[in-house]
Amino acid sequence: MTLPVHHCWLPDDLGADLGSHTISLEPGTGPTAETLRQEIDTLTARHGGALVAGPADVVVRLAADIPTDTFRLTRAGAVLLEAYDGPSLVRAWFHLLRLSATHGWDAPAGPELHVPSQPIRMLDHWDNVARHDVMGQVERGYAGGSLFYRDGRLRDDLSHVGRYARLLASIGINRVGLNNVNVHTREARLLTHGLDDVARLAAAFRPWGITSYLSVSFAAPMTVGGLKTADPLDRTVQDWWRTAVARLYEAVPDFGGVIVKADSEGQPGPFGWGRDHADGANMLACALAPHGGEVFWRAFVYNHHQDWRDRSTDRARAAFDAFTPLDGRFDDNVVLQVKHGPMDFQVREPIAPLLGCMPATNLALEMQVTQEYTGQQRHICYLGPMWSEILRGELSSEVAELVAGRATGRSRGGVVGVSNVGTDEFWTGHPLAQANLWAFGRLAWDSGLDPLEVLDEWIALTFDSDLVAEVHTIMATSWQTYEKYTAPLGIGFMVRPGHHYGPDIDGYEYTPWGTYHFADRDGIGVDRSVASGTGFAGLYPEPLASRYEDPLTCPDELLLFFHHVPYAHRLRSGRTVIQHIYNTHFEGVAEVEQMVAAWDALAGRIDPSMHARVAERLREQLRSAIEWRDQVNTYFLRKSGIPDQRGRLIHL
Ligand code: GCU
Repeated sequence: MTLPVHHCWLPDDLGADLGSHTISLEPGTGPTAETLRQEIDTLTARHGGALVAGPADVVVRLAADIPTDTFRLTRAGAVLLEAYDGPSLVRAWFHLLRLSATHGWDAPAGPELHVPSQPIRMLDHWDNVARHDVMGQVERGYAGGSLFYRDGRLRDDLSHVGRYARLLASIGINRVGLNNVNVHTREARLLTHGLDDVARLAAAFRPWGITSYLSVSFAAPMTVGGLKTADPLDRTVQDWWRTAVARLYEAVPDFGGVIVKADSEGQPGPFGWGRDHADGANMLACALAPHGGEVFWRAFVYNHHQDWRDRSTDRARAAFDAFTPLDGRFDDNVVLQVKHGPMDFQVREPIAPLLGCMPATNLALEMQVTQEYTGQQRHICYLGPMWSEILRGELSSEVAELVAGRATGRSRGGVVGVSNVGTDEFWTGHPLAQANLWAFGRLAWDSGLDPLEVLDEWIALTFDSDLVAEVHTIMATSWQTYEKYTAPLGIGFMVRPGHHYGPDIDGYEYTPWGTYHFADRDGIGVDRSVASGTGFAGLYPEPLASRYEDPLTCPDELLLFFHHVPYAHRLRSGRTVIQHIYNTHFEGVAEVEQMVAAWDALAGRIDPSMHARVAERLREQLRSAIEWRDQVNTYFLRKSGIPDQRGRLIHL
């Protein structure tokens, strides 16, 4: 059985400079106090400093005049690191550690107040307790088994979960979801019959200032509780939840709350009893409120029984249509968790317009760190630039401000990532996918950071500063490379149904899932204009609505998401759609070839087992990219009959 061993961005020799000083600590009491003591003890013992009681070079302490979830760094003679509470002090400590590693001891003078951009910085684990027939142990997991569960039960030894929590704390994560949002029979019982397990997991995260959450099934009162209904307005159902939640809080008094995927892809929800999402979410919110708990209610709701013949139903509209009428109806401890795009974590989507139309609702932006649609951790695809583009995107305000709640005057809000880790020795299957976990945390903490600088931080900490230039070249534009050799111009999908790896251009074309490209001999794309299509473009505020409405002003990378155009349509780049498809697919493969060569050239400068693992994955990436290129190019040559202007080999 493998378990993760790699140090990621926290190698043992990190912070030699900091560790050579005297450090004093006043961490208060509570679970994080011992964490800090151990961290400082270990660091100073390793590097010749000391944890001392009296005056010191570095003072780490609680201070009452700082808001919660922030910290203050002052350098006036001694370095003063202060936070209001233990969890914030842990995060502050890792900030100082990183600063000493990347900027040397001459850190800025301060005082600097560090306030996170996103109050909610959460990772959801799509882990099943029991192996699920179709999805395995971790749904959409590409890094081995679950860190938490094995063979239908919680692992006995959770020491690696402690190491994982340390990694998460070091990037500012403050919440985790402990199980899959698709709650199967075994997992539904965690809430009722698995409280010891839940308590043990929460105990592994608590010392690192991370609060735990459970995904629950809306039908649990029936499937687990034996009631005849799960109607949220039924008194017995409400009582059932109140009792279950009270028992949960007896076992784990500082528990975070619940995550719910309701009326989505077959999961039960309030629609089953003629109620709406606000009825469902508020019923749970009432049960949680006395304990200070919160409900993450997912907005990933659409009809997955569509008829491909029906051109009037547009999956992209579904969440908007279902939730905007409910704005203002959700309780204060409900957070609506919205995927970044209107479809499903594709490599390119417009920002979900729902995020700009819920001013009276707490929001969390959901992003997929696990690379379901972006190469499944067999391909290098550094997602920092995509997430940064989303966070800095504009709807009614900047997305980062909307989801944090600042734009709308709300105090709860933030970001949620679907975790990409597992029992793989490098945690993430593809070692370079660690960068995505890092970037998620860094951008959650500071959504304005330059994602390429974030990448360089990661390279310097994980490898060595000597390697920054080389590894940067391989990873910096890997998202755009992946986009080039897969589905073009924002159309999405074209993946193998089910597992979603590799090309299958028509794989979803006649399915009930509502993910179509409508390619025919004349053109391709989905007409989502107001004038002649589904009207989705009109759900955006101006100037976006007009920009998306007109194929001449619509950004190239989203053209086929919003419009059905002829293959000879000229993009804003000056190229035709068909020529763009051919060019980008040839370019994408050429770029992967360059990645392979650049990585091969690093042999001898990187730990051999890590080098070998990446090299092996790169070969698969190249094979897969070639398959994508050839299938996509051949498909469109056959459909359109228009040859490549440059006469390159396209199979017929
Ligand atoms: C995607 C993914 C599913 C997942 C779903 C969700 O569709 O393929 O495995 O359950 O998203 O976010 O709920």
